[in-house]
Amino acid sequence: MSTDRPFLPYGRQSIDDADVDAVAAVLRSDWLTTGPAVDAFEAAFATATGAPHAVCCANGTAALHMAYHALGVGPGDKVVVPSVTFLATASTAHLLGAEIVFADVDPDTALMTADTLQAALDRAGSGVAAIAPVHLAGQMADMDAIGTLARAAGASIVEDACHAVGGLDAAGRAVGGGATGDLMTFSLHPVKTIAAGEGGVVTTADGALAERMRLFRNHGMSRNDFTAPDQAFAADGEANPWYYEMTEPALNYRLSDIHAALATSQLARLPDFVARRRALAARYDAAFASLPAHVSAVVRPSGRSGYGYPAWHLYVVLIDFEALGRDRAAVMGELRAHGIGSQVHYLPLHRQPFFRQQYGRSDLPGADAWYARALSLPLFVGMQDEDVDRVVDALHGLCEGR
Ligand SMILES: Cc1ncc(COP(=O)(O)O)c(C=O)c1O
Repeated sequence: MSTDRPFLPYGRQSIDDADVDAVAAVLRSDWLTTGPAVDAFEAAFATATGAPHAVCCANGTAALHMAYHALGVGPGDKVVVPSVTFLATASTAHLLGAEIVFADVDPDTALMTADTLQAALDRAGSGVAAIAPVHLAGQMADMDAIGTLARAAGASIVEDACHAVGGLDAAGRAVGGGATGDLMTFSLHPVKTIAAGEGGVVTTADGALAERMRLFRNHGMSRNDFTAPDQAFAADGEANPWYYEMTEPALNYRLSDIHAALATSQLARLPDFVARRRALAARYDAAFASLPAHVSAVVRPSGRSGYGYPAWHLYVVLIDFEALGRDRAAVMGELRAHGIGSQVHYLPLHRQPFFRQQYGRSDLPGADAWYARALSLPLFVGMQDEDVDRVVDALHGLCEGR
């Protein structure tokens, strides 16, 4: 089937003239990287989230790597990660030498819960250095319950909030403000709520962790606290102007001024983005609620965690493919033929061949049940209300054999 209506991807950035002007201004300036646009973005992100410190970086993967590194995660440590997440939540801790312990998730929300975390902690035994709840689709895991369990286990918390910028926790505080987690990580990838092209941020209330991340994103280069005075200082006692020391081997994870300028401009639009995403999600909810019962038995919105106020990065439905009589690839193909993109978030990490090889097969029925049914539908700021109706109509039609 062909369609003359525009294709609806599952996610897409929204770029306006102000965004373009912000990038152009940097291109005309003296600083393409390590310049004032980076500082301005960090200040704006800290203000928007209420975080004492915001450290930006090259992408959300780098943000996770910096966060785990700042906590000192390394060989001998265990890190608990929900199985339903993007690769980076686990792979960055693995790269640092930690063992990953996969927690199961609620089958209807894909979020780590107090029960699934407790079960993972019981399996892990001692040595859990960090717990990394993921606010999947923009819904927050229950951070009050997770915080209590983490404290009891002596573990730090890295909140993977790559989907959750613009959301609020149960007390109405912005995600990223540091109410529970020691560190909170964000991605500025174009399908996320604010786009920098590539980009990431870590927020924290802990100045020492922020400082460690600033060093790690910049080769571990320090221009203070020199340990080799014979090389550091000139005869007059002043520091040699070219001199720096490597505190430890590290990486170049800097965000450029070009990306930072786009990110700042997008951040100014965040309240509008969040309002539109919430309106689109509410329209999906209402449309699905109005479907006949035999259709709702086959396709329905994913569950609600009931914790906090999401900014909805993804709109996920749960489909009983067996009852529908088609598998997920066929449904995705038929939606595509209607000009509708869809995606799966995610193949659970305990099913990834690499992790199976590392840790053997795991029994995580919640993650498997989510994976068997989940499909992310188009959700982006530029969508029209009618686009939502079109997506729901298409799914309705599939259920009715049309
Ligand atoms: C939950 C989650 N964590 C981490 C990342 C990594 O972010 P980035 O793509 O910016 O490296 C992503 C992005 O796909 C993500 O969805």
